[in-house]
Amino acid sequence: MKKVKVGIIGCGNISAIYLQAPKTLEILDVIAVADIDVERAKSKAEEYGISKAYTVEELLADPEVEIVINLTIPGAHFEVCMKALEAGKHVYVEKPLSIELEDGKKLLQVAVEKGLRVGCAPDTFLGGGLQTCRKLVDDGWIGEPIAATAFMMGNGPEGWHPDPEFFYKKGGGPMLDIGPYYLTALINLIGPIKRITGSARASFPERTILSQPKYKQKITVDVPTHTTGIIDFEGGAIATLITSFDIFGGSKLPRIELYGTEGTLVVPDPNEFGGPIFIKRRGEKEWSQVPLSHGFTENSRGIGVADMAFAIVNNRPHRASGELANHVLEAMHAFHLASETGQHYEMTTSCERPAPFPVGLTKETLELINR
Ligand SMILES: NC(=O)c1ccc[n+]([C@@H]2O[C@H](COP(=O)([O-])OP(=O)(O)OC[C@H]3O[C@@H](n4cnc5c(N)ncnc54)[C@H](O)[C@@H]3O)[C@@H](O)[C@H]2O)c1
Repeated sequence: MKKVKVGIIGCGNISAIYLQAPKTLEILDVIAVADIDVERAKSKAEEYGISKAYTVEELLADPEVEIVINLTIPGAHFEVCMKALEAGKHVYVEKPLSIELEDGKKLLQVAVEKGLRVGCAPDTFLGGGLQTCRKLVDDGWIGEPIAATAFMMGNGPEGWHPDPEFFYKKGGGPMLDIGPYYLTALINLIGPIKRITGSARASFPERTILSQPKYKQKITVDVPTHTTGIIDFEGGAIATLITSFDIFGGSKLPRIELYGTEGTLVVPDPNEFGGPIFIKRRGEKEWSQVPLSHGFTENSRGIGVADMAFAIVNNRPHRASGELANHVLEAMHAFHLASETGQHYEMTTSCERPAPFPVGLTKETLELINR
């Protein structure tokens, strides 16, 4: 297998899973790491046996690096992605694609001009849970999708994340943080979005950090922390979505349910890769649990960039694409814009549903990914 050489920029909380990814996703060869805090990069390089620990500029100047994986905080996504493209590198970025909608468009434009790829998390929709759901929908098990409900009723990341300020600053909030998982899952199952309406609020002006090392420090909240709204899909289906960091009493709502003309599908947590999946078709009395038809059911972050690496080698479209992420970015802004203006927001972008993975794809049969 021809390996693709990768450099990682951003060595914080999420970097560990990407640094482990080449063990199973062998097409990825992580040759360099960088961080604005070079000591962090050095310590990750040592931990994972990577010979090059760089400043951002040094990594971008290394001619061996083909793909940059951008794992910086959302506020730095655009700048680091743009610098990577300008340095002639393909780039795959953690979600969201960028903060400002215009910036997402600029990245796609520069990538097209330079003949480079932009890929973007989440890649949970490529996991065994959501790929099995996609197959069930495509094979007609619930008929034509009519509607969906999707709920992320959380109490914020300040209880576990060591550095949680960015979740409450521009580019944070539950919609930009967790919305990408839900919206990407819905688009993968139902198709692109036509228009959105919504309402949003920040219920608490200040949050208290409960994790170490910043225990008891306060964060001023600059963004909506409870966002609710309605999505009209191009194909006619309608979905209700709530994302919240304001739910302190817990919730018993499901994650995602998809309602079709012939049945209902209970879709697993789109922030994860596995199941369980339940289905009940018209006339049936009981729910049936569906066995998963695809692998990658464990935390497989990195599968999206591995797919992009295969796509580069084989000259085909990649699935966790910039176009999909830019459509998701516009949708996330749409909830807040609709709330501010009191009007539906008509989408200006669209995207193709990404190609499904072949049935039975596992790490052992990864090269089937090109089918
Ligand atoms: N932590 C999670 O569980 C998780 C899960 C999924 C996705 N993500 C996403 O991953 C991204 C990173 O999250 P995290 O939790 O690892 O954050 P983090 O704050 O732990 O790490 C971010 C790292 O980026 C570095 N950095 C910041 N600005 C930079 C710049 N301009 N140039 C180079 N390095 C820079 C910081 O020094 C830090 O080491 C975010 O987009 C987040 O939404 C995080």
